[in-house]
Amino acid sequence: MIESKDDTHSSPLNLQAVQHILETTPDIIYRYRVVPPRGFEYLNPAITAITGHTPEEHYKNPDLGLNLILPLGLNLTDELVHKNPENEPVIIHFVCQNGEVIWTEHCSVAVTDEHGNIIAIEGIARNISHRKSSVESLSKSESGLIPFLFSSSEDFSKTTDLRHLGQMIGTGLKELSHADQCAIINFPEDADPYPIWLNGFQESDVPEIILYVQSLLESRNINKLTLYLIPERDIHAFSSIAIRNKNSHTVIIAPFAYEKHLLAVGFCSHHQPCLLKEHEKAAIEAFCYQSAIVLENNRLGSELEEAYLESILALAKAIDARDTYTSDHSQQLVLWAEMVARRLQCSEKEIEAICWAALLHDIGKIGIPDEILHKPSTLTDEEWCRMKQHPEIGANIVSNIKKLKTAIPLIRHHHEHFDGSGYPAGLSGEQIPLGARILSVVDAYGAMIDRRVYRPAREPEEAVSELRRKAGKQFDPQVVNAFLSFQPS
Ligand SMILES: [Fe+2]
Repeated sequence: MIESKDDTHSSPLNLQAVQHILETTPDIIYRYRVVPPRGFEYLNPAITAITGHTPEEHYKNPDLGLNLILPLGLNLTDELVHKNPENEPVIIHFVCQNGEVIWTEHCSVAVTDEHGNIIAIEGIARNISHRKSSVESLSKSESGLIPFLFSSSEDFSKTTDLRHLGQMIGTGLKELSHADQCAIINFPEDADPYPIWLNGFQESDVPEIILYVQSLLESRNINKLTLYLIPERDIHAFSSIAIRNKNSHTVIIAPFAYEKHLLAVGFCSHHQPCLLKEHEKAAIEAFCYQSAIVLENNRLGSELEEAYLESILALAKAIDARDTYTSDHSQQLVLWAEMVARRLQCSEKEIEAICWAALLHDIGKIGIPDEILHKPSTLTDEEWCRMKQHPEIGANIVSNIKKLKTAIPLIRHHHEHFDGSGYPAGLSGEQIPLGARILSVVDAYGAMIDRRVYRPAREPEEAVSELRRKAGKQFDPQVVNAFLSFQPS
């Protein structure tokens, strides 16, 4: 049935060899007559293996083959010949006997009569379902990964808090690795490792997880930049009570490394054996690299912030020395402010903010010229206006330091008066942050008992009387009472 297009050339293959190829090839080879009587004139045995129907069934029922094609009614002659003058491979869907839909790739030619009319189609059809599903699966995972990485990147940019970053990184890693439990352990260069996110693990598991990770990273000479699947037998070799108790069968160690510098490690455990496909590993590695960049930027940002904070503290000390006769004026205010805050039952976070604000409350004076700051006589309206800018200048100076975020309003409002006559906003009563009301009292007391260029120091008793006299006007009475309830030195 397979005819040579050019009968003048004899085939170097003998008929027996051709017959063997036809009967053993995994591809369908066919000749389909498209003019009456329609139907297959030849089909090799591969049709049975691929569609479940035998050649004999097709010979008996000329429409059987057409009924297997999706979409139903598709004109094979049009698809394979008329729309395909270059005889390019064409993809056709078949419905198999068991109902499964498969992809087949057809390479075919038209057979014509002496008038050039098409009378049959000869061709070869290959089952490409496996190849197609692999490509689709890869493409699906990649198309899902890109938005995932993109949205992760967007989320990462919204925070500089390491714990929050750890939560975002851990959530992403757990999702990508299909883990049941996940821990993100930070590996700082100059300190011990510590967890920044735990999911499914307890704090008490952490020492053993860290020990386990360190054992794997150091003793076993594992490349720190690669992803690891640790089979169950190895987990027992590195026995860990925490890991065993959590029924971990497979552990993925996902290092977050930037320029060969390990920043953190993701520890993911699975209750069942987990074997990741290549594209899933690639996705995790891409995510880890992206996360590592974020962690490195965060580390650099923290270093920069620490350096900035140190220079601000040095500045605050210089301002103390410039503005007062007591070089530790601000340090003294910190002690008093903390005592008052504790007396008023502020939370630890509030107390921390109050202490920072006490230390840095007058840092904005860096913007006030000496001739105004040290003027022995009364300030002019213009000078006073300039002087009143120092809380706002100070708030702006510390605004870029995240650990001072809660201290900013206290610095900005430390010259507000309880009766609303202060500056810069003219706030009154409880509109003024409590920390700022505390600062107002201790700062005023400290200033009164300190000698200034324009006046001598006052006696503590006189300063206390002044606080009492102005309670309810300049100062919050409850803060004055709290301050006076202990004997300030
Ligand atoms: Fe001030």
